[in-house]
Amino acid sequence: MKISEAVKYGKQILGNDYSLDVEVLLAFAAKISREQIYTQDDADLLDDELFKQLIDERRKGKPVAYLIGKKEFYGIDFFVDERCLVPRPETEMIVDEVIEYFNEKNIEEGGFKEGLIFDVGTGSGAIGFSLAKMLPDCRVFCFDIGDGVAAVANKNLDELQLENASVVVSDLLAAADDDIIPEVIVANLPYIGLEKYNFVDDDVKAYEPHLALFGGFDGLDLYRKLFGQILERDYPGRGLKLIMGEFGFAQLEEIVNLIEGAFGSSSYKIIPDLSGIDRFFKILIK
Ligand SMILES: C[S@@+](CC[C@H](N)C(=O)[O-])C[C@H]1O[C@@H](n2cnc3c(N)ncnc32)[C@H](O)[C@@H]1O
Repeated sequence: MKISEAVKYGKQILGNDYSLDVEVLLAFAAKISREQIYTQDDADLLDDELFKQLIDERRKGKPVAYLIGKKEFYGIDFFVDERCLVPRPETEMIVDEVIEYFNEKNIEEGGFKEGLIFDVGTGSGAIGFSLAKMLPDCRVFCFDIGDGVAAVANKNLDELQLENASVVVSDLLAAADDDIIPEVIVANLPYIGLEKYNFVDDDVKAYEPHLALFGGFDGLDLYRKLFGQILERDYPGRGLKLIMGEFGFAQLEEIVNLIEGAFGSSSYKIIPDLSGIDRFFKILIK
């Protein structure tokens, strides 16, 4: 099949709305760039079967990122497979906010942007490793519960060669060394409710790991537990300055109750994502 025929074939099966997916899968199958699809459209694809199989799996709903084994996040290519969530672009805002926190601190205090960061529920390592790369004077510990997902994170860590980051297999912060006090905690924990706040596409449910998606009855069990661990360890009294996390559609009231219950004397901000949906909490510990 020629490249131009493959473009037509892909669009015929997936529909014109999926032309970007067709281009990405074609570029992957033919080992060319997306630009070359249009400059080498008369060339042969070589592996017709692979391309047809990718299009077929995409038609059934498998995310493109799993099909090609990578997803770009914060300008970095992360290896991904079915053991981890595909990082979402909106989550990049957590990275932006933490960088801004260290920029401001740097202006106030002068010197390096040093600090200790915990990324809880790291998945592929998207948030934690982006921070480690952008803030080379910070040390980042990335926690996740499963060996499988930790293997994905470690693969990315090897690839990125970040000496200031590490992966810890842990139930939230249970395995964190008590002497290591984070200045910043970031968390994009599973927040889809099994009963309440269960807004999730069938494709997501079918392909992405449920361990990364569901957080108990109302989706907020993991945040309840994390806040409990933070208080038990008295991080707020020992140097914690910022907690930043992501939550789901319609959970604003419940997350605000949780924050006020756990960190009543601190101030917090709710930040919307780019579609205007309240998505992030930022707690400034006092
Ligand atoms: C929504 S995903 C987010 C992954 C990544 N931070 C991102 O933004 O792409 C949540 C992650 O939390 C992890 N997780 C679930 N329960 C956990 C627990 N009890 N302790 C640590 N990690 C947990 C899952 O394995 C998954 O990788």
